[in-house]
Amino acid sequence: MPEIAFVNGEFMDLSDARVSVEDRGFQFGDGVYEVVRCYHGVPFALEEHLRRLERSASGIELGIPEETRRLGELAVEALRRSQIAEAVLYMQVTRGWAPRNHAFPEAAKPTVVITVRPAKPAPPDRAALGVSVITVPDERWLRCDIKSTDLLPNVMAKQKAVRAGAFEAVMIRDGAYVTEGASTNVFAVKDDAVYTAPEGPRILSGITRAIVLGLAREHGMPVVEEFFTPEFLARADEAFITSTTLEVVPCVRVDGRPMGDGRPGPLTHVLASAYSAEVTKRTA
Ligand SMILES: Cc1ncc(COP(=O)(O)O)c(C=O)c1O
Repeated sequence: MPEIAFVNGEFMDLSDARVSVEDRGFQFGDGVYEVVRCYHGVPFALEEHLRRLERSASGIELGIPEETRRLGELAVEALRRSQIAEAVLYMQVTRGWAPRNHAFPEAAKPTVVITVRPAKPAPPDRAALGVSVITVPDERWLRCDIKSTDLLPNVMAKQKAVRAGAFEAVMIRDGAYVTEGASTNVFAVKDDAVYTAPEGPRILSGITRAIVLGLAREHGMPVVEEFFTPEFLARADEAFITSTTLEVVPCVRVDGRPMGDGRPGPLTHVLASAYSAEVTKRTA
């Protein structure tokens, strides 16, 4: 099964894919991206991802070229060529190639990249045992709603988690409230209600987050989209994180201390199962 790339109008083997060293994505992180999980050859929530990519592109004043408009079709074609059934589809659009200069280049054409690679299967005990997280300061800019390729603060945060032997870094803005994880949205469950940070410039509006909140409401769980403190998270009955590639992952320790009873919680389990059922329903 070949790992496929699409770069500026051509499909090729991923190992042959190249962009210029003067690409602004490489020089400045001047680009936007999406990650789509594909289940048995069907991209999940592709429309939602394409809409967010358009919002991100418009957030950095990146004109959408014809190719980007056709990105959905190109992504499906890349997936078909790869023949990878359980795949991660990556799409990136940068402001293109130009001699290095901070201001927007006058004539550059956006670089469009798509890659298809096999999805990593989740370790079998992750859902049953849950994961540990640590808290770190949120040092990002105030347009976290834009899914920008400029991920340095997220990279630094994730590395702190790895060094601490934790799975995810939960970011705390101004020492006061939880925003999200380095590559996930963060949820706390208290008295059977589901809490998560509100949409806006301080978080990425996760596609998985939106689906999980919809499922929570369908299951009659009150949903509270408000910021909460790190202390609230530490004292929550349950906690979990979500993302396209991870789906719903229970968190059982924060900064080395057990959360709830130190085991994945029942509502987290309900939502994780409901999410799997939603995936099956939409990709059948
Ligand atoms: C900072 C951040 N928050 C949240 C998410 C989860 O978003 P989604 O559910 O759309 O994958 C991601 C995904 O990569 C992310 O990078």
